[in-house]
Amino acid sequence: MAAERDLSGGLESVAVELWPPGESPPPFQYSPDCVPGADGAVDPTEVTFPGCPCRARSCSPRSCPCARRGAAPLFECNAMCRCSDGCGKRVVQRGLRVRLQVFLTAAKGWGVRALQPIAEGTFVCEYAGEVLGLDEARRRARAQTAQDNNYIIAVREHVHGGRVLETFVDPTYVGNVGRFLNHSCEPNLVMVPVRVDSMVPRLALFAAADISAGEELCYDYSGRFRNLPPNEGERKAAEEDNVQRKPCFCGSRTCAAFLPWDGSLFPGADTHSSRSPSVPEGT
Ligand SMILES: C[S@@+](CC[C@H](N)C(=O)[O-])C[C@H]1O[C@@H](n2cnc3c(N)ncnc32)[C@H](O)[C@@H]1O
Ligand SMILES: [Zn+2]
Ligand SMILES: [Zn+2]
Ligand SMILES: [Zn+2]
Repeated sequence: MAAERDLSGGLESVAVELWPPGESPPPFQYSPDCVPGADGAVDPTEVTFPGCPCRARSCSPRSCPCARRGAAPLFECNAMCRCSDGCGKRVVQRGLRVRLQVFLTAAKGWGVRALQPIAEGTFVCEYAGEVLGLDEARRRARAQTAQDNNYIIAVREHVHGGRVLETFVDPTYVGNVGRFLNHSCEPNLVMVPVRVDSMVPRLALFAAADISAGEELCYDYSGRFRNLPPNEGERKAAEEDNVQRKPCFCGSRTCAAFLPWDGSLFPGADTHSSRSPSVPEGT
């Protein structure tokens, strides 16, 4: 038997397997964590949050200021906190813990499947890549052709007071196993922005249902959790931009037939919002 290949090259605490033997995805640089983008606009490695003074092994939700910063699991304890590495408010920052396999699908290119059962609510992996500013994200999105895999994700969070926080992550050149997750209109993962050391969120994927070993892992690229057919505005903007929406091969009963399309990264469609979880103000 050929030795199991680890796509992460030993950088994750569990190996990311590859299937089938002899086949590999096009090369990219593996990084378990987000890195500053080549445009230098955002530094996801900065620590700007204060730490908590909790000397307990694990912080208590009633007394820890980190836990009170927002409802779990939106904020975690950070590099400045006095609690232990095993604190219950440290989950996403501990990285990949479940066994995953990057495999060649029938019609969607490469995908990711579980090699073990995963219980609903479990943190699965992050969507790590270069964190970009809006201009560079747009520049890269516009340079893509209809045949290219699109890895750039735009996450918009509506903050109380009408402000919108935008985060752009591109794992095309530098990324982790998350870059191989395909879209499904009936997904088994949900993406949640989680903050650890600063307001730059980690895009964390959690199991949205109990998952069996062997199941392909997918999330809804629209951020809506259930993909809907494009509304009138989205359809018109897509036509105006002459964008060919890609057919969706997720195979679910409620498939919307096309992959979600983020108009905001293309000219003349600044008003579209693809994702809208909300974050508490005052952080
Ligand atoms: C983030 S990548 C996912 C990994 C990709 N399959 C690969 O081989 O590297 C996103 C791209 O995968 C393909 N894809 C993802 N979900 C799909 C789906 N449900 N149906 C068809 N193509 C899909 C599309 O080409 C999309 O632009
Ligand atoms: Zn803690
Ligand atoms: Zn803390
Ligand atoms: Zn679909």
